Amino acid sequence: MFLIRILYASEVSSSFQPGDVESILESARHNNSANNITGLLCFNNKYFLQCLEGSRSRVNDTYQRILKDPRHQRVIMLDYREIFKREFDQWSMGYVPQTHLTRNLNMRYSATPEFDPFEMSGESVYQLLASIRDNIPSV
Ligand SMILES: Cc1cc2nc3c(=O)[nH]c(=O)nc-3n(C[C@H](O)[C@H](O)[C@H](O)COP(=O)(O)O)c2cc1C
Repeated sequence: MFLIRILYASEVSSSFQPGDVESILESARHNNSANNITGLLCFNNKYFLQCLEGSRSRVNDTYQRILKDPRHQRVIMLDYREIFKREFDQWSMGYVPQTHLTRNLNMRYSATPEFDPFEMSGESVYQLLASIRDNIPSV
């Protein structure tokens, strides 16, 4: 049971309702704690960016459930890798709202000041999340 990490992006669908983020976080935290999964979820009201880390089988099962969720669309895998330690282990699912996705941060890790994970490499996305972890420990 070795560790892996995935990073993926998606976009809200037309069936997404205000308040859905709270229910997504509630079930994510409940299920991820039970599955020993850790990670972060960024959301800017248009795009999701999520990191999931844990055992390969549990992360895969979770990702397959997430893929079928009608509240988002255009789900795209940005990175999959085997890891030797977790990087986001303080959160069963930490939440990074739009207010933390500042123009300065986006400029550092992408080509424009707007948050658009579809335009980012897996490495840039990982570095963005690591920077948030180090600088905004309350997420
Ligand atoms: C952007 C997004 C991120 C999600 N993240 C997780 C997650 O980390 N873990 C999880 O179990 N479910 C996550 N979900 C919810 C799943 O798609 C699914 O609704 C849930 O796992 C079903 O479990 P439940 O019946 O216990 O609520 C996410 C959904 C969306 C749209």
